[in-house]
Amino acid sequence: MSAATPSTASRPRELFTGQVGFILAAIGSAVGLGNIWRFPGVAYENGGGAFLIPYIVALLTAGIPILFLDYAIGHRFRGAAPTALRRLGGARAGRAMEGLGWFQVAIAFVIGLYYTVVIAWALSYFVFSFDLRWGDDPAGFFVGDYLRVSDPGLSLDFVPGVLIPLAGVWIAVIVVLGLGVAKGIQRANVIFLPLLLVGFLALVIRALFLDGAAEGLNALFTPDFAALANPDVWIAAYSQIFFSLSIAFGIMITYSSYRRRRSNLTAPALVVAFANSSFEILAGIGVFATLGFFAVQQGVAVGDLEGLTGVGLSFITFPAIVSQMPGGPIFGALFFGSLVMAGFTSLLSVLQVVSAAFQEKFGVGPRAAAATIGGVSAVLSVLLFSTTSGLIALDTVDHYVNNIGIVASAVLTTVLVILVLRRGAELRGHLSAVSTVAVGRSWTALVGILAPLVLAYMLISRIVSLVIDGYEGYPAEYLVIVGWGALLLIVIGAVALTLIPWRRSPDDFAPWPASAQLPSTTEASTR
Ligand code: ALA
Repeated sequence: MSAATPSTASRPRELFTGQVGFILAAIGSAVGLGNIWRFPGVAYENGGGAFLIPYIVALLTAGIPILFLDYAIGHRFRGAAPTALRRLGGARAGRAMEGLGWFQVAIAFVIGLYYTVVIAWALSYFVFSFDLRWGDDPAGFFVGDYLRVSDPGLSLDFVPGVLIPLAGVWIAVIVVLGLGVAKGIQRANVIFLPLLLVGFLALVIRALFLDGAAEGLNALFTPDFAALANPDVWIAAYSQIFFSLSIAFGIMITYSSYRRRRSNLTAPALVVAFANSSFEILAGIGVFATLGFFAVQQGVAVGDLEGLTGVGLSFITFPAIVSQMPGGPIFGALFFGSLVMAGFTSLLSVLQVVSAAFQEKFGVGPRAAAATIGGVSAVLSVLLFSTTSGLIALDTVDHYVNNIGIVASAVLTTVLVILVLRRGAELRGHLSAVSTVAVGRSWTALVGILAPLVLAYMLISRIVSLVIDGYEGYPAEYLVIVGWGALLLIVIGAVALTLIPWRRSPDDFAPWPASAQLPSTTEASTR
């Protein structure tokens, strides 16, 4: 720990106003672009109905256990990732663990740079839905007219149609983060989450009544059990769970550090995990019912449609369907409006990871942190992703950061915290002492043995496949600069930020006093 003297003038730590506020913010963080934009395509590509088996296994063996771990670290050590992990490391390993915290912060920072861009696209498409601006050729419109995509490379040819909504998203996120945890983040979630739920439910119900909906659901849910023998399907399930639950890159450590001393941790974690997966499956149903309608209109099988995954699914296939549907503009507005709301509440959590870490290390308040970090990120995000080379850069960085960065962070966190520093029993004790649902020894075995083994296997196999096969046929030197380069910058950033001296003592936001470490009662109400 730093030798700096704890300041008596430290400002009190911000708090969520109570359990409900926290749960809404945590669900708002989990339910994001990953649920609507990524899950349906990933499930379809990886065995359809059979994908639910690895998905549920991943949720139970790594998702929920690591969610518990993040909550326990954030609440027990009461800080953003670098502060909390530094405290956990103690005198012996504090510095190294702070480095792991900054690694998580750097991952969140990079995700924030492009996550905003997808929200900006969705915002544009929300507006375009009203007059079906993409006309008869949604693919040509998206790639040519809207994004004006160039070959892989680094261009400084800005696309105003992206830049303007992107600037709007950055201004909105800076304002909300600057308002702080309760008045900004919590309030935004209280407004947007119910709106998202109502809007998205309306969309799914409408989709279920479309001609051909059953064909779509059959395509999604017909199990291809042979897929279960393919390790890539299991890797896809674990990756999906990590991104979707917002675990292992600092978010849940940061959010749980804003809870009161007596706060139930495990039951809310189960609520969040259940809500997130339910929303994900709901998104799968809505999207595939809609695709079934499209397939019937085209006179083909769902499997023969093109663009069933990722960016193409949301921004090319969906607009094409909207054009053919009675009441299409409303359906399009509901879909893209849902993407914007789900994305925005997740974005707040991604950037709060960065903001909180800077507030603590450099002794600044939420407003200054939001303005500085938001300002720097906005400029980088505009430079890198609102140009004609933005789409390919975004796709590449997203792939490398998710498949290597987040998984590496999860492996390092579980191995260092549980196996090397042997803090499993203490964290389990903390979870059980404050929570209504006690945690058994099996949790330590899951986060200390099973999860690191599975995740290390995943990590190695992903690295090997990226080195040998590359990604999407992009030129090798481009992947080295943009994909591996992004990861290298994350590591360099983490090391640099760890080496910079603390402007205030890491003890300023004091962890719970010894007498309060294991409270015997839990937060009873939604204070
Ligand atoms: N959990 C967020 C998402 O799924 C980051 O998009």
